[in-house]
Amino acid sequence: GLWVRNLRLKRRLPGPFAWPVVGNAMQLGQMPHITFARLAKKYGNVYQIRLGCSDIVVLNGDRAIRQALIEHSTEFAGRPNFVSFQFVSGGKSITFTNYSKQWKMHRKIAQSTIRAFSSANSQTKKAFEQQIVAEATELVESFLKLSAHGHYFNPAHELTVSAANVICALCFGKRYGHDDVEFRTLLKHIDQFGQTVGAGSLVDVMPWLQFFPNPVRSVFKSFKVLNKDYFMFVQSKVKEHRETFDPEVTRDMSDAFIGNIDKSDSDNGLTIGHAEALVSDLIGAGLDTVSTALHWIVLLLAKHPEIQTKLHDLIDKVVGPDRLPSIEDRSSLTYVDAFIYETMRYTSFVPVTIPHSTTSDVTVEGLHIPKDTVVFINQWSVNHDPLKWKDPQYFDPSRFLDESGSLDKDLTNNVMIFSAGKRRCIGDQIAKVEIFLFVAILLHQCNFEKCPDEDLSLNCSYGLTLKPLDYKIAAKLRGGKSCVTV
Ligand code: HEM
Repeated sequence: GLWVRNLRLKRRLPGPFAWPVVGNAMQLGQMPHITFARLAKKYGNVYQIRLGCSDIVVLNGDRAIRQALIEHSTEFAGRPNFVSFQFVSGGKSITFTNYSKQWKMHRKIAQSTIRAFSSANSQTKKAFEQQIVAEATELVESFLKLSAHGHYFNPAHELTVSAANVICALCFGKRYGHDDVEFRTLLKHIDQFGQTVGAGSLVDVMPWLQFFPNPVRSVFKSFKVLNKDYFMFVQSKVKEHRETFDPEVTRDMSDAFIGNIDKSDSDNGLTIGHAEALVSDLIGAGLDTVSTALHWIVLLLAKHPEIQTKLHDLIDKVVGPDRLPSIEDRSSLTYVDAFIYETMRYTSFVPVTIPHSTTSDVTVEGLHIPKDTVVFINQWSVNHDPLKWKDPQYFDPSRFLDESGSLDKDLTNNVMIFSAGKRRCIGDQIAKVEIFLFVAILLHQCNFEKCPDEDLSLNCSYGLTLKPLDYKIAAKLRGGKSCVTV
């Protein structure tokens, strides 16, 4: 009996037949997370595919993923040494670096700095909130301008600028106008980032693709250029900070990282290069994700007018017309949070986490995975797991509320968009505060309407984040309210 069991534990992982050279690359399709979930029905929640020359384990479903990321957190805390990862944040990114003592130390510095500027005490909480309120009210003004004379417009650029400004204000103590040319150019390319580092991107598993003309090579080439341009922008800002640095006054997160630079030259200490990389990582991670969330939210509001009306009614009742919503209203605006959770669950706009790799041999659901195996974690499959969710294919915020109208914490904890375990997102709390305030303020001020002769489609493009395809809406100032003034 024991012998048979051992044999079973060590058996090769199940998975589809892999073709020579490309492996399963041609089978991924436009939406790899959906393909991964489909393959899980056939091969189980833990299976193996081959992409180019890499064997990759794909984890699906709530149980297998939590078992791996939480019960075996250290074993799953690694990152593969993909070629593209070396071009991020000058090669010193904490996000795209493998599990190590140094990574642990630098991640801790990043976490405590985020806390210091968002939630450490009531004063920082208030300052952070005011920053977001200022951005949100400016966003309302640009939306109303763009909707003048019955126009419908694509909100993509304005939403990206707003999300970028919140994180730039934290990092640099500076925001940028919606028409700032330098900033606009920078942001134009940043959404291409996720095409290269998202799970299923091919240059990392078929590195030879970079050596002859093909679509993957041209995407990879622009990836290198955008990372260089973007990192140079960050470096110039950090340099300005170093030149005016005063150890007595920490103006922003850049100053905080500069203050943490280790002059003792120890192996794991923070160098200037690492400090620049931390700033670059936080802006990169905080910008694309939050703006994508807002894109989906505006689209879903315009698509579901009955849900929007329910949100309007609640905000009117709790907040009233004479002031803006604030973070203190959050506990009374549970349906707003329910709407945000449902947007995260339903769209699963970070469908697969950044690729992981195993730091040692490990067993999940009885299957053996060797050290240094690349692992894809299919968050979409957790959020659409029929064992966890009733009718996962329907958009229904009220699924998160119990009979008394309170948020069901067990259910909201089941939504997986920030990952789990040792690599869990470190910006989850600030992201939630940010998104809540944006949504509450946008809804307090505006009604979002779709273009009457166009249907809003949920089609999207695949990458590290799923982005809705271009769409148009109009924002109408809600009845009886005067335009916001800051
Ligand atoms: C990592 C989601 C906002 C900073 C991640 C990961 C996900 C994620 C899925 C990868 C985890 C893994 O590989 O297992 C999101 C979502 C956001 C958001 C959905 C917004 C709605 C932010 C913000 C910041 C941030 C605002 C910072 C200010 C980071 C960092 C990492 C990360 C530094 C890398 C962690 C590591 O590798 O150790 N995030 N994120 N994120 N996120 Fe976020």
